[in-house]
Amino acid sequence: MPKAYGFTEYGGSDTQTFIDLPKPTPGPGEVLITVSATSVNPADWKMREGYMREFVPLDLPAAFGLEAAGTIEAVGDGVTGFEIGDEVFGRTTQGGYSEYALVSTDTAALKPAGVSFNDAATLTVGAATAYDGIEELGLGRGATLLLTGAGGGVGVAAVQIAIHRGVTVIGTAGARKKDLVESLGATHVEYGAGVADQIRTIAPEGVDAIYDLIGGDALRDVAVTAKSGAKIITAADPVTAGEVGGTMVARKNDGEVLDAVARLVEAGTLDPHVTEIFPLDRASEALALVEGGHAAGKIVIAVTP
Ligand SMILES: NC(=O)c1ccc[n+]([C@@H]2O[C@H](COP(=O)([O-])OP(=O)(O)OC[C@H]3O[C@@H](n4cnc5c(N)ncnc54)[C@H](OP(=O)(O)O)[C@@H]3O)[C@@H](O)[C@H]2O)c1
Repeated sequence: MPKAYGFTEYGGSDTQTFIDLPKPTPGPGEVLITVSATSVNPADWKMREGYMREFVPLDLPAAFGLEAAGTIEAVGDGVTGFEIGDEVFGRTTQGGYSEYALVSTDTAALKPAGVSFNDAATLTVGAATAYDGIEELGLGRGATLLLTGAGGGVGVAAVQIAIHRGVTVIGTAGARKKDLVESLGATHVEYGAGVADQIRTIAPEGVDAIYDLIGGDALRDVAVTAKSGAKIITAADPVTAGEVGGTMVARKNDGEVLDAVARLVEAGTLDPHVTEIFPLDRASEALALVEGGHAAGKIVIAVTP
């Protein structure tokens, strides 16, 4: 039976294990892919912990993973625009840390030939979340955006998409990510004590918008630097965003956005910054790296080399 990495019950990392799952059959609107690569997102361990079980109830054991890139092996009823043999990436419906995965064609796109499977495996969640947020903020050239968590999976993509639109970006990240964040074209500010003062030195009149990818104090500490009327959105913490006058990012989650981000990668405008690639056998290490909270860029699991 095909191998997958998942968890047997809600809880900590001790619930994680390899599981044999039957090869799934695509339902209406789905395709079955042989997975070349999947990427790790914080949502993976949050789902294992059960934090999302009210909104996304799972049949356990379940495979980890919200996204994958691979080659279509079978097509469900009503699918148009995708055929057996197409190289695609998109949102998985039953996990992605797996040799086979079901992908919903509402949230899938064809992989351009010039984009690797490893890069494509990172676009559905990280880059598309970045893209949706930057679109929502609608900042014009010369506006200043403050991004918290600029060195993580969503952050690296958000910096590049915003810079491409002529926006000036200030990004908070740990000291070890200064070079990474500045290589993307943003001004790096180290989070922690004094972060608001550092931002005010760079943007004395305040920032035009904040895109928060961390939440809690990381957002509270910087919210004071927003100009009056500046939009604040978060992908991480709607409660704290609400306290400071912000909202949850509006996700489009559609094929059009995925196509747009893939084209940015193909054009060399967007590099998802895959910093580590693990084989499926070492999926636990890949997940632990992201669960540790300080990953750089995107962490990928290459399933079929
Ligand atoms: N709603 C959605 O659709 C959606 C989609 C994707 C992601 N998300 C959420 O968005 C958040 C970010 O996701 P991600 O994939 O970018 O996570 P990630 O890859 O784990 O990156 C998080 C980054 O934040 C940095 N960081 C940690 N503490 C920080 C602080 N206090 N201030 C600034 N940076 C800090 C970390 O490294 P350093 O400490 O070394 O700088 C790391 O680079 C997560 O909560 C995730 O669940 C939501």
